[in-house]
Amino acid sequence: ALVSMRQLLDHAAENGYGIPAFNVNNLEQVQAIMEAAKETNSPVIMQASAGARKYAGEGFLKYLIQAAVESYPEIPVVMHQDHGQSPEICQGAINLGFSSVMMDGSLMADGKTIADYEYNVEVTKKVVDLAHKVGVTVEGELGCLGSLETMKGDKEDGHGAEGTMTMEQLLTDPEQAADFVRRTQLDALAIAIGTSHGAYKFTRKPTGDILSINRIKEIHARLPNTHLVMHGSSSVPQELLAEIREFGGDMKETYGVPVEEIQEAIKFGVRKVNIDTDIRLAMTGAIRRFLGENPGKFDPREYNKPAREAAKKICVARYQEFGTAGNA
Ligand code: G3H
Ligand code: 13P
Ligand code: NA
Ligand code: ZN
Repeated sequence: ALVSMRQLLDHAAENGYGIPAFNVNNLEQVQAIMEAAKETNSPVIMQASAGARKYAGEGFLKYLIQAAVESYPEIPVVMHQDHGQSPEICQGAINLGFSSVMMDGSLMADGKTIADYEYNVEVTKKVVDLAHKVGVTVEGELGCLGSLETMKGDKEDGHGAEGTMTMEQLLTDPEQAADFVRRTQLDALAIAIGTSHGAYKFTRKPTGDILSINRIKEIHARLPNTHLVMHGSSSVPQELLAEIREFGGDMKETYGVPVEEIQEAIKFGVRKVNIDTDIRLAMTGAIRRFLGENPGKFDPREYNKPAREAAKKICVARYQEFGTAGNA
């Protein structure tokens, strides 16, 4: 059944686990997530970005998720809008039937100019007011995703800040977070701790100076009852990079967020963990392998099947690692 995200996050908080929120753009990804959820008895958060809506079209996304809900009636599913850039976009998603929306007021509506704090409070509060009236959950974001190695925003997928950023922008301030939650009354707070979207997060296995789990602990100490959200949380498994390289892909050396760091974060209030890139890498590796090993094949079903299997394997692993399994 389609459920509100607040309900799932409250249960996760009461029982001390985290929930991966997987980005979806097409049929095979939706199927992979649902199969993994069924196998592990996990609740599901599927999220669609602006890029997903552009790629698939709103109607296709809505009915793909609707099909998942109908095909797996026993599994709770949240249909979440990822990185809404304005109250109007969030309202549009609510009208379409999303049960949860993110108002990302850390950036202006252009997706690249860093917003001032009062703007963020204003737009987030506006979305909370319109969403809560109809039982829809709201995620907001305070602080900007970006690299503490380069002090640069997150440009890989085109929705990060431009130019050089400051430490204050790249790490969410606990006192400001407390003020933000009090003034907006949002349901879940995305925080900045040094992660960024995409495959190129860190040039080495991250240590505390470039991935601040400590900052999560400080925010959680100040806001023990707020559900925290980690964006840019793909782990970028080295074996997936190796598979892509083995079959002709060009991936530079890179490191993601280690699963054990996410597990530590889950002990300190992180309830929603956003993952897109790991599924992309898994599917690309599987398709490259299949076509490399079967140069004569051309039926998309034949290469999409191992891609779907590979995506499912990542989802199963994260459901187990984050403690989601068994909680559907
Ligand atoms: O928000 C980041 C997600 O990875 C979605 O990426 O904007 O390329 O769909 P996208
Ligand atoms: P990754 O690029 O690390 O998978 O992050 C996805 C994300 O944060 C979507 O909002
Ligand atoms: Na990046
Ligand atoms: Zn994100």
